[in-house]
Amino acid sequence: MVEEQQAARQDIRMAMPEELAVVPAREHVLFPFIIAPMATDRAEIVRAVDAAMEENKIIGVFAQHGDSQSIPDSLYSVGTAALIARMFKLPDGSIRMFLQGVSRIRLNQLTQTEPYLRAKVEVLQSQVEKSTELEALTRNLASLFQRMVELAPNLPSELGIAAVNITDPSDLADFVAAHVSLKVEEAQDILETLDVAERIRKLTGHLNRELEILELGSKIQSQIKGEMEKAQREFYLREQLKAIQKELGETDERTAEINELREKIEQAQLPEEARKEANRELERLSKMPPAAAEHTVSRTYLDWLISLPWSKSTEDNLDINQASKVLDEDHYDLEKVKDRILDYLAVLNLKRDMKGPILCFVGPPGTGKTSVGMSIARALGRKFVRMSLGGIRDEAEIRGHRRTYVGALPGRIIQGIRRAESNNPVFMLDEIDKVGIDFRGDPSAALLEVLDPEQNYAFSDNYLDVPFDLSRVLFITTANMIDPIPPALRDRMEVIELSGYTAEEKLHIANRFLVPRQIKENGLSEEKLQIPDETLLAVISKYTREAGVRNLEREIGTICRKVARQIAEGSRESAVVSPDMLHEYLGPEKYRQELAGEADEVGVATGLAWTPTGGEIIFVEATPVSGKGNLILTGKLGEVMQESARAALTFTRSRAALLGIEDNFCENKDIHIHVPAGAIPKDGPSAGLTMTVALVSALSKRPVSKDVAMTGEITLRGKVLPVGGIKDKVLAAHRAGVTKVILPKDNEKDLEEVPQDIKNKLEFVLVENIDQVLDMVLKPQVEIGAGVA
Ligand SMILES: Nc1ncnc2c1ncn2[C@@H]1O[C@H](COP(=O)(O)OP(=O)(O)OP(=O)(O)O)[C@@H](O)[C@H]1O
Ligand SMILES: [Mg+2]
Repeated sequence: MVEEQQAARQDIRMAMPEELAVVPAREHVLFPFIIAPMATDRAEIVRAVDAAMEENKIIGVFAQHGDSQSIPDSLYSVGTAALIARMFKLPDGSIRMFLQGVSRIRLNQLTQTEPYLRAKVEVLQSQVEKSTELEALTRNLASLFQRMVELAPNLPSELGIAAVNITDPSDLADFVAAHVSLKVEEAQDILETLDVAERIRKLTGHLNRELEILELGSKIQSQIKGEMEKAQREFYLREQLKAIQKELGETDERTAEINELREKIEQAQLPEEARKEANRELERLSKMPPAAAEHTVSRTYLDWLISLPWSKSTEDNLDINQASKVLDEDHYDLEKVKDRILDYLAVLNLKRDMKGPILCFVGPPGTGKTSVGMSIARALGRKFVRMSLGGIRDEAEIRGHRRTYVGALPGRIIQGIRRAESNNPVFMLDEIDKVGIDFRGDPSAALLEVLDPEQNYAFSDNYLDVPFDLSRVLFITTANMIDPIPPALRDRMEVIELSGYTAEEKLHIANRFLVPRQIKENGLSEEKLQIPDETLLAVISKYTREAGVRNLEREIGTICRKVARQIAEGSRESAVVSPDMLHEYLGPEKYRQELAGEADEVGVATGLAWTPTGGEIIFVEATPVSGKGNLILTGKLGEVMQESARAALTFTRSRAALLGIEDNFCENKDIHIHVPAGAIPKDGPSAGLTMTVALVSALSKRPVSKDVAMTGEITLRGKVLPVGGIKDKVLAAHRAGVTKVILPKDNEKDLEEVPQDIKNKLEFVLVENIDQVLDMVLKPQVEIGAGVA
């Protein structure tokens, strides 16, 4: 069949007419050897075909390039002579036909353009030089084409077989060219290439490119297919897993747990960072078997994240009058504290997003530091949390342990916040002066971060690992003494000092707060128990010795319990407690008015000291004993106090003659200075004056007036320098029954803080040098043996 065709084409080629009707083909190149369908309704083509049908059924098909508008100009000069194999006319005038390409022709000259194109043409012969190279090129082309047919989805596989049967290299090239997708210019180029080897080379290039595209396409195809299979596999496995879990009774509970947690995370309104962390942890948790130890750890962590009040805060009570009323309701005096809180409220009124201040209440025990903190929370309408820092030595207590530790938990700050259930509570850190430092790290470093308004908006707890905003918390720290607080911490806090109460103040506090509270707590009523002022004052002076009112409250509590018991036993219906009854309820008096009625002594002076428990009176004893001029100090004296003692000795020696003391007393005597109440450590320079007086008294054998108490630092030249804690010291002097108090002149301003009723009862002497004091307190010499026994 192929041979037949070939012969027929050869015949036509030989008998090719000189002039042919021309059919312009848009965007299409017809190759010789190819049978191709063609349809058109273009009038000039229909006319050309009609003319050809009448002559010899042969037309010249020339491709058009897009450059020119007029048809004659747009024709390529090389085209194909084709036999019209079959032709149909349709009713609308258009035609369908099959063209059999016969031979390459060149358009030499257009002979007419109307009513259809005619041209003089010339047959072009392909040049075939038989060679092994051509053989190889041809075979390669055939196999490439076959491969292409395999890959191309739109080519029927018979085409491959057809190609194998084409032996003529030129025909094969034309056959392949007709089936590779080529641009018009490329196809035209192939058509115009008469050298067959060259034509095959060009085609091979196009074919390779085409193959690459097809191969890539099929690769993508197979990949997509692969992915589909993977997804299906996963789906299948998951289904299996579900079935297994169900079999083990795990599914529902676990999914429910995970879903519940997810919901809680949503509701907790975590800040961005925390939410991300929570979701990441949830993801981890969902993949863990519930039996794994990790599971609990992960679950606990999530619970912590969820339960913290990230964005929960309580509404502040901004009514200043109301707050002021609450504060007064709970506590007597404490004006400085109350003032500061009302100031804070006032500013909060103007600026809602204000950072909380960091306050530090310093004062003796039982003066209301902790309880006023609670009252502040009540006044502001905030939650209250309290934590004691006493004895905390480990930084991790404040900041938590890393989650990698077994049993790790957040630090106490975060725990407190969770307990508060709001992010703006009043947070009380008690006993900040008792924070310790050791090898486990310095807790005050962590506290610094908590208490620094510049840092605490992003407090980092080791366990949480995401910052928590503490800036709206109102921190209140408390301390008995300011000195042990690390300076860096002290610097960040606003210190408010609370001092001890006078007996009158205590009486007032007892009447208004302590007695009613104890009566209530012990199930009594005011009809059943009355404690008159007289009795309360006796309790204050004979059963307590303190700056605050804690022991007083305890004693009142004891009275209440005893009375309650008597009532319960039926021995009484009610009681009005008189001072005489105190012995029955509270036992023998615990404290005596030490000084009253005691004799003046040689070598003993009364000093005023300031201790963590408020003011105290102390006795300084000095005695010369035979020796070699040594100074012996006992009574647990601190370094500064020891130096004061040395200064006192040197001063005394330098004034020996003037003071009527043996000049060379140091050569054959040791001096022993002792401060009793030895268990209490004592320090500070304020005993200098008292020591000097005791020393001079002992050496000159002049007794010291018992009703005078003194405080002051001294210099070697005998000047008296100011000291601290005046108010508490004066209160202590009054408690102890002293009538005259000697103070450094420069402390005059501190007397302002002393309540007027106390000032009225005491005589104050303000001094600048020791001489003024010695004259005043030393009495004339007495016989040896009358003094220290
Ligand atoms: N000014 C006051 N008005 C009414 N009650 C007071 C006053 N001061 C103290 N109290 C009462 O005294 C008791 C002891 O006070 P609180 O526990 O607050 O002392 P504190 O200063 O915290 O002592 P510490 O330094 O030992 O912790 C409380 O019951 C408190 O109500
Ligand atoms: Mg306290």
